[in-house]
Amino acid sequence: MEQAMRDFFLFLSKNRALTKMAKRYGLRFGAARFVAGETIDLASNVIQSLNAKGLDVTIDYLGEFVDNEAEANEMADQSIEAIKAIGRQNLTAQLSLKMTSMGLDISDEVVLRNMRRILEAATENGVFVTIDMEDYSRCGKTIEIFKQLKSEYDNIGTVIQAYLYRTEQDIADLNAYKPNLRLVKGAYKESPSVAFPEKKDVDENFKKIIRQHLENGNYAAIATHDDAIIDYTKQVVKELGISNDQFEFQMLYGIRTERQEQLVKEGYKMRVYVPYGTDWYGYFMRRLAERPANVAFVLKGMVKK
Ligand code: FDA
Repeated sequence: MEQAMRDFFLFLSKNRALTKMAKRYGLRFGAARFVAGETIDLASNVIQSLNAKGLDVTIDYLGEFVDNEAEANEMADQSIEAIKAIGRQNLTAQLSLKMTSMGLDISDEVVLRNMRRILEAATENGVFVTIDMEDYSRCGKTIEIFKQLKSEYDNIGTVIQAYLYRTEQDIADLNAYKPNLRLVKGAYKESPSVAFPEKKDVDENFKKIIRQHLENGNYAAIATHDDAIIDYTKQVVKELGISNDQFEFQMLYGIRTERQEQLVKEGYKMRVYVPYGTDWYGYFMRRLAERPANVAFVLKGMVKK
């Protein structure tokens, strides 16, 4: 039943008609629990209150699967606005973004041009940029773009998903670039021909790559709400003698807020991923797919309204 619900929400997450409709009608159905607002001003207020609690942030102007150049350019403009707001307001925040929002499905030229514009602004404002990882069909291309940009700019990292079979090899290959990587379980619906279908295998592979990446001496962002993985990370860093400035934990805005604050109190760096913008639908559907309890929360919200 749980798997069927997961598949259903992941299927819905890709529906373009619903994506368009959601944009038109604004934040609905309890999405505000996971999305900071539709504008950078609203997101800035959220960032300030998180920073005040000792939490670092990465912000994401929501958008994905853009299929025309004008929209991709507009997405890049919005990310540059976000970078400038971070600089202007002295926020402790980085930027995250998806390559399909920058024009990955249009051409390499469009996506690289937009990314270079963003990285110039990010360099000026001292902001680090992380390329989110999307579905498997875009993974190889995203890694190639990351390698290209990493050879030109220092302030860029990307994401590696533990559910993919290719991941161990990617971590090994990327070591030459000494990358700052966010490590995650993986949020998309993938075929068993490319990704571990069983959760326990994903968790095992997650632990394996955390150790591998830290042993390589690279910076790791362990992005998870799973206590078993958090505890494993604490144990591995102790065993390898890795200091708290070579890694951080990351969680999503609106999920396990108390745990986030507790990790800060324990002396760990904790970064919250704060999405904002009008294109909230796909992101929201993936959060519902991850946790059926979130669906109950949404249904309660709908009944109340
Ligand atoms: P999982 O969903 O397996 O949950 C494990 C356990 O955590 C649960 O059993 C429960 O104990 C606890 N838990 C989870 N949610 C909880 C809640 N709401 N309340 C209480 N306990 C809860 N994916 C991707 O493909 N590309 C990307 O670029 C990114 N980027 C990204 C950034 C950040 C900062 C995060 C945190 C995550 C991503 N992801 C992602 C998403 C990621 O791949 C994954 O889908 C989710 O993080 C869910 O997996 P978890 O590791 O949290 O564990």
